[in-house]
Order: sequence, then C-alpha cells, then structure tokens
Amino acid sequence: MCGIIGIASDKSVSSNIINSLKRLEYRGYDSAGLATLNNNLIIEKKCSGRVEQLEKIIFESPVKGNIGIGHVRWATHGIPNTVNAHPHSSEIVSVVHNGIIENSDELKKKLEKEGVKFKSQTDTEVITFLITKALESSDPLDSVFLTLEKLKGSFALGILFKNHNNIIIGARRGSPLAVGYAKNENYLGSDSYALKSMTNKISYLDDGDVCVLNKDHIEFYNQKKTKINKKVLVLSDDARSISKGDYKNFMSKEIFEQPITIKNCMNEYIDKIRNQINLYDFPIQPDKIDKITLIACGTAYHSCLVAKYWFEEVTDLDVEVDIASEFRYRNIKFKKNNLYIFVSQSGETADTAAALELCKQNNAKTCSIVNVVESSIARLSDWVLPIHAGPEIGVASTKAFLGQLLVLYILILKISKIRGDVSEKEIIKKIDDLKKIPDALNQVLKIEDKIQVIAKDFVNAKGTMYLGRGLSYPIALEGALKLKELSYLHAEGYPAGEMKHGPLALIEDGLPVVVLAPNDKYFEKTISNMQEVIARGGKILLITDKHDEVISENLRFKLEIPFINYLLTPFIITVPLQLLAYHVASLKKCDIDKPRNLAKSVTVE
Ligand code: M6R
Repeated sequence: MCGIIGIASDKSVSSNIINSLKRLEYRGYDSAGLATLNNNLIIEKKCSGRVEQLEKIIFESPVKGNIGIGHVRWATHGIPNTVNAHPHSSEIVSVVHNGIIENSDELKKKLEKEGVKFKSQTDTEVITFLITKALESSDPLDSVFLTLEKLKGSFALGILFKNHNNIIIGARRGSPLAVGYAKNENYLGSDSYALKSMTNKISYLDDGDVCVLNKDHIEFYNQKKTKINKKVLVLSDDARSISKGDYKNFMSKEIFEQPITIKNCMNEYIDKIRNQINLYDFPIQPDKIDKITLIACGTAYHSCLVAKYWFEEVTDLDVEVDIASEFRYRNIKFKKNNLYIFVSQSGETADTAAALELCKQNNAKTCSIVNVVESSIARLSDWVLPIHAGPEIGVASTKAFLGQLLVLYILILKISKIRGDVSEKEIIKKIDDLKKIPDALNQVLKIEDKIQVIAKDFVNAKGTMYLGRGLSYPIALEGALKLKELSYLHAEGYPAGEMKHGPLALIEDGLPVVVLAPNDKYFEKTISNMQEVIARGGKILLITDKHDEVISENLRFKLEIPFINYLLTPFIITVPLQLLAYHVASLKKCDIDKPRNLAKSVTVE
C-alpha cells in the first residue's frame, strides 16, 4: 500500500506535503516522512507513527525547500520504525515508493558486494542505490530507466536528485500514480484525492510510464522511453463530503450516510417515474452471456457472494464468485460467453486489478463496479458502473458495501429483464421495493442505543460467531469481518447449518453468538441451529425481521429490523452489524478510522 506525494513549486513545499500526506493516510499510517532539496542538500525527516507526529517534528524544526517528496507507509519489508520509514536517501538521491520489489534480496546482495551499506530493512533502499550507481554515468532520466529494467514487482516511485534540483521523476508499474497541474506548481501523487486540495487538473500514468516534472512543466515517457502525451482530466468538486462534520469519526458518518448514499445511487440508475432501470451503453449483449464470474476482495467479495444468491433467485445464469488473490493464479478456462465482474470500492486493490488484467489478456468481457471512477480498475474494464457513494475514508468499508449491493442488484434486474427471466411486472414491483430501502435504513439506525448496550457483552469475550443461511450467510461473514477489523476480537462467520460439522465445538458457556434469522425460507432451520448453540451455553444476539414474541425465549438480546422483501434483507441486516462492530471497538478504545495493521487501499499483493 503506502501513499506517495511529490511537489515542485516556486515556494516552500513542506506544509503542502504534510497536508497531502494526511489525505493519503488511508493508504498506510505506520510511519511517515518527507525529503526536500534546499541549497543543493537533501533534507530528510521521518518518524514512526502518524503524519501528525511528522507535522510536530517539522513544526519544531522547519524544513525549507521548493521541491520535495513525502510518504505514508504500510510496512511490507521491515518493521514500522523511523529507519524503515521513507524517503530512502543516498548522498544524491531520495526515493519514495509504493509497492513491493520482489527481487530486492538478490539486488541488495549484489549492491553490498559493490560496497553499498544499507541502513534499512526495506526493499525500497535498493532503488535508491541502483539509481545512485546509474547516475555515475547517466543523467537522471536514463538512470531511472536503467534501474526500472532491473526491478521485479510493483511500484509507484517519486525521486529527487541533489544535483538536478528542479525535477522530480515519477514512475509506475502496478501501483497507481497521478500527476496534477497548477500555476507555478506541479504534483505527483498516489491518487487524485491526495492532490485535490491543490488542483483539480489530473493525468494518470499507465503501467510502464515515467514522468519528469518541474514547477512549470510535466513530460511523460512510455516504457520504451518515447515521449507521450497525456489526457488532462478535470475532477469534480466533492470536497464537502470529505469532512467528518459533527461525527466523531468518518466511520460513524459513513454508517449514518447510508440512507442518502442509497438514494443517490438509486437516482443514478433508476427512472423513478417510469420505474425503469437506466443502464446504458451495455457493451455486452446480456442475452449472449451464459455465465457470470464475480471477483473481489474483503468486503467487496462479500457483496459478490450476496449477488450470487440474487442471480440464482432471479436468473437462470450460472454464477461463480472468486477471491481475486486466488483467481489471478488459477488456471482459468476463459470462455467467450462469460462475463467477469470486478467489485472494488477503491478501484486500486492490487489483487483485483491483477485478476482484471488477466481477463483482459485473455480477451474476456469485463465490467467493474467501483466507487472511485478515476481508478485503475475502472479505467481498465470494458464497462464501469460507479456506486456513487462519495469518498469513503474509514478503513472499514460500510456505505460502499451497501452501494455495491445496490448496483449489483440493479444490474441483476437489468440482465434478468433482457434475458426474459423476470417479467416487466415483477421488475416494477422489485423497483418499488428498492425505493423503500432508505426509510428502512433510517429506521434501523434508530436502534443504535440498544446496540451500544449489547456491545458491552462483546468487549471481554474470548471470541464470537456470526451465523446465517442463504442471503444472510455472506452478511454473517461481513459482520464478522467488521468486528475483527475494528475491535481486534476473534470473530467467525459461518453458514448456520455447518456448525454441527465442527465449529459447534467452539461454543462454551457465555460465548456471544450473533444469529441472523430473517423471515425467509431458512427461518425455521436457522432457529433450530440457534437452539443448538443455546443448548451449549451460547449467549445469543438474534437479529430478525420476523416480529414475533415466541422466539424470544432463551435469548440474551433480540433486535427487530424492518422487512421489505426477503431479497432486500441484506441491505437492512448489515447495518446493526456495522454498529455493533463500531461500538465494541469504541468501548475497547480502538482507532475506529484506522484499525491497526490495515490500510484503506490495498495496492500490494
Ligand atoms: O477497495 P476494495 O473494495 O477493492 O477493497 C477490498 C478490501 O480490501 C476491503 O473491502 C476491506 O476488506 C475492508 N477494509 C473491509 O472493511
């Protein structure tokens, strides 16, 4: 992961570097650093911990220089400490890097034999010394190209040169990199978000591209070192949605924004007057598709699992779901009539992007469902369906998950209509039901105070389990992922019917167990599975939309949620689980927006 920034200006850059690093912290937050050039000297400041810490250091000992680079780190090689923090500098070169150099050990050994003394345990430092060596006989641009030839793995780089004090060189292979343009100032950054407070004019580097920027000008080269031109994109201004407002953290804001997120997304895709789905420019004839493969990671993968159940309920299509990090290395038999759908909030997840790349190499039909429309995944796919959720800053994905579910559901309705799997009348009924989601979400958000009380039961628990069947099974996985990610409590999501095949052995007196039992065809079965857990001492939190007193016996807690139609239950039942994870983590005083060891955008394998 990691985030990088570079600024070439006619004024001092350190405070703008710090501001951009704050915006990049969602990519990594275990250490931070910057380097500037002043009086032909590289000045480097780094620390372990957050950008706030770096800001204090710079406040106490200000750093001058009109050109500089900065970095926030998510450790891959070497523990998060000051020495391993980026930039990594020699006497004449300073480098920030996002990605992994897979042959760094081999390169390091060679360089050590040539007398190089490494200070850090990182893979990045080899880049610094390869460029330093190459500079003995070439200019900065050639030295970068010579170095890139030797690197295996993925990278986005920002490089400063002591003896060429007006340029920054950027390079991209695998990891994303953008540049931004302004008057007397140009920028390099891991994404447009990092640059947005300074400019809305952006270009993206493609794989293999290198750029050379100074304060007045940016030049681009492809991997053959031929000069190329880049399209300049003007970004929309959604800066307002990037503030926390009155909320304590981004995650709570994003949870409470969900009714409006769903409304906004629905407005994009549904003509509410005619009750029609607006999905245009479908480049693939849906009636010519035999099979759909959905590919994603983490929470986005869970949205794909929900979609599989939906596809099977409303179409005759054959549907498969794959975790991107597995898909990319499997021996896939690509078929002409297979559609590959990629789901990603960030659109930058390295495994998902690599799986998409594999599909492209095999001429497969691709579609992506993303939140960041300028992302690499969006740019690479044949067809893009944005989820219009607005920036999601909390590392734990919440509103993007509901947005992904909504777009998947709308896509499924559209495909089923074109294929003739569902009648026009049924589609209209289903669209009518969709419109009820925002109100139902508002209702469920009102039970937050009850959830706050329930959360106390989980704080000191040894672990917990989330059980569900059918559409609630992927939601059980998502609930468990939210809890472990935010509160560091062991949690497992399981199909309720699978408990007796092993996991029931985990149940002991007082273990909190969350049971999702909506009023669907699995209801009685799930309740029987719940009784089996109660009989072994499990302390049940039942979440259901069946508002009936009989099942309340022997329960520790019961949460009733609104019912719209059984297909739409995943939207509603997810919210109490997000709130539960949030409140357990708050009680445990965990860092809600930046859980330990994680990052928002996972741009490494
Ligand atoms: O940006 P993406 O949707 O591709 O990210 C995929 C996962 O890394 C992400 O959903 C992760 O699991 C979340 N932090 C979970 O809350």
